[in-house]
Amino acid sequence: MHPETAPQLCVIEGDGIGHEVIPAAITVLQRVAPDVTLHHRQAGWEHFQTHGTSLPTETVQMAQQCGAVLFGAASSPAYPVEGYFSPIVRLRRTLQAYANLRPATHLPVPTSREGVDMLVVRENTEDLYIGHEHTEDEGQVGIAEKVITRTATERVTRLTYELAVRSNRKKVTIVHKANVLPQSDGLFRRVALEVAGYYPEITTDELYVDTAAYWMVKEPTRFDIILTPNLYGDILSDMAAAWGGGLGLAPSLSLGDNIAIAEPVHGSAPDIAGQGIANPTAAIMSTAMLLEHYWQRPEAAQRITNAVRKTLAEGDHTVDIYTQGAISTAKFTARVCDNLH
Ligand code: NAI
Ligand code: MG
Repeated sequence: MHPETAPQLCVIEGDGIGHEVIPAAITVLQRVAPDVTLHHRQAGWEHFQTHGTSLPTETVQMAQQCGAVLFGAASSPAYPVEGYFSPIVRLRRTLQAYANLRPATHLPVPTSREGVDMLVVRENTEDLYIGHEHTEDEGQVGIAEKVITRTATERVTRLTYELAVRSNRKKVTIVHKANVLPQSDGLFRRVALEVAGYYPEITTDELYVDTAAYWMVKEPTRFDIILTPNLYGDILSDMAAAWGGGLGLAPSLSLGDNIAIAEPVHGSAPDIAGQGIANPTAAIMSTAMLLEHYWQRPEAAQRITNAVRKTLAEGDHTVDIYTQGAISTAKFTARVCDNLH
């Protein structure tokens, strides 16, 4: 996070609608931050098929060098492919982008819930996602390791509370299942509460993940920040995205020390790819998060957010919101640009 140096951005469109929503987000970004230098690099399934790797070393190096990354989406085959791995999961881990921020805020569309304004902070580097899985008894028993460490819990908790203070949020709910998993989730709970003790100005409470899921459906407006390990965060943040109005509107930012990956929550959407109808809002709002949290330009971020809200409030929308009167990716992006003040 170097607000004084000229910002560099590694742009990775990836696959599918990544080729549509990322250029749209860049168009908007260049209007509010024309000094950002762009470095386009490759990753994803298409690149794997033509070049034999889903994440070239060259791309990782450029991402590291820039510090800031804008990533579209990567398709992953539904069957095992030798040598293929998810480039985004690998990139987050390699760059140690350890906290995934996924806000869900009410937007003026019929699919969004009034009053919702929550932020799910998901630990991004461990838990069941370390990939240590094996089978025993000739494939009749599947075993996966869940790893929680003090180091990873401390850093994600500290980042969460620093962010809460900075963005004027009031409450953090620590979500876990420490009653059933006292050694792993129990450690997450203990360490998170320990760090929380240093921030008396922020209210801290805790919920078991099943109870949290219940309340997120029943009364989503009661949540402010949710801090949780990787797997629960994956699931709960998709639930939160539904209250925000849908996947096409859900942005995210993976943050580490001196690294940030802006990435819409959605995937490559092969069912609509290439038609020019994808909703660019999630990608556009992800770049706003980059401006706010990494480049420390909250005013520029606010300009984008206001323009998106105004565009949606005026009734302009893409087909995922509702079909009647839907406009294309390009038209929607142009309307957002018109509304930048
Ligand atoms: P998806 O998010 O790509 O699509 C789910 C549904 O939402 C589809 O009907 C799609 O058309 C719609 N949708 C998503 N984003 C949209 C947008 N911006 N505008 C309009 N409609 C939108 O999830 P799905 O279908 O489960 O996965 C498709 C591929 O994407 C798979 O190969 C999967 O592995 C990959 N994926 C990649 C992610 C990433 O790179 N971060 C995240 C999720 C999935
Ligand atoms: Mg997910």
